[in-house]
Amino acid sequence: MQNLITTSDFTKEEIIDLFEDTKQLLDFKSSEVLKGKIIVIVFFENSTRTRSSFEIASKRLGAQIVSLDVGTSSRNKGETIFDTVANINAMKPDALIIRHSKWGLPETLSKYVTCPIINAGDGEHAHPTQALLDLFTIIEHFNGDIKGKKIAIIGDVKSSRVCGSNKRLLPRFGLELCFVAPKCFQYENSEHKQYDNISDIIDNVDIIMSLRTQLERHHEQFFESLNEYAKNYCITKEVFGNRDILLLHPGPVNRNIDISDDMLKDPRNKILEQVTNGVAIRMAILKKLIK
Ligand code: NCD
Repeated sequence: MQNLITTSDFTKEEIIDLFEDTKQLLDFKSSEVLKGKIIVIVFFENSTRTRSSFEIASKRLGAQIVSLDVGTSSRNKGETIFDTVANINAMKPDALIIRHSKWGLPETLSKYVTCPIINAGDGEHAHPTQALLDLFTIIEHFNGDIKGKKIAIIGDVKSSRVCGSNKRLLPRFGLELCFVAPKCFQYENSEHKQYDNISDIIDNVDIIMSLRTQLERHHEQFFESLNEYAKNYCITKEVFGNRDILLLHPGPVNRNIDISDDMLKDPRNKILEQVTNGVAIRMAILKKLIK
């Protein structure tokens, strides 16, 4: 039995195979590949894209979904999350998809369950399905020619699990990474170069991934307002100019803070393609893990 806690759970060959399957699934035909399977989704944090993407992926494959409403579950009757999950597991689901604010929780929980666990985001640590869909989108955009391509991840890198997963996954496929952020959002130690200004990298990158400021994870206020931050880090037409750069964002986008209105209309952004690819990637992952 295999889990997906971080992207390192899959070898490079497995990821290449997964992407081959993803391409086949991009026609979004409904099938019965997972007919009779029951998938439990437990999200302890907000989500729009990831949750609905997993639900649609499961339904496209003919599986049934049980979504645990955390607000009305026995968690507020004093039960620990370990007991909640052990009880769900005792009902013999075929897979468990979990999102939680605590770094490392899906991995710990995997020791309590007998079905595959998929990490849909744990705190600031990892978001493997997002990184896989980002890599897939990049490979599709460059027709497979990604070795040596340069990507700058811009924004609140330190608190972002999307960045956490991408900084481990993308270099495995030959991409060169750097980060652009104000000092307060930079990593204390980083094996990749970190810059303060977009102007330092804009002429030398093929891809920009913009990130949302993770205010819910900050213990102090770093900026008077997000507008203050946006003055230097918002991706605008002025910043991009005519350069041929692929623009990505995992969503949710804070308009005119992360990316300007005009760049959200610009064809160089493939944000909605990321969302579409995300469903197909998750279909391929469910097919791979559920036996
Ligand atoms: C991200 C998340 O929740 O980690 N969103 C997503 O899943 N697409 C990014 C974010 O919340 O900023």
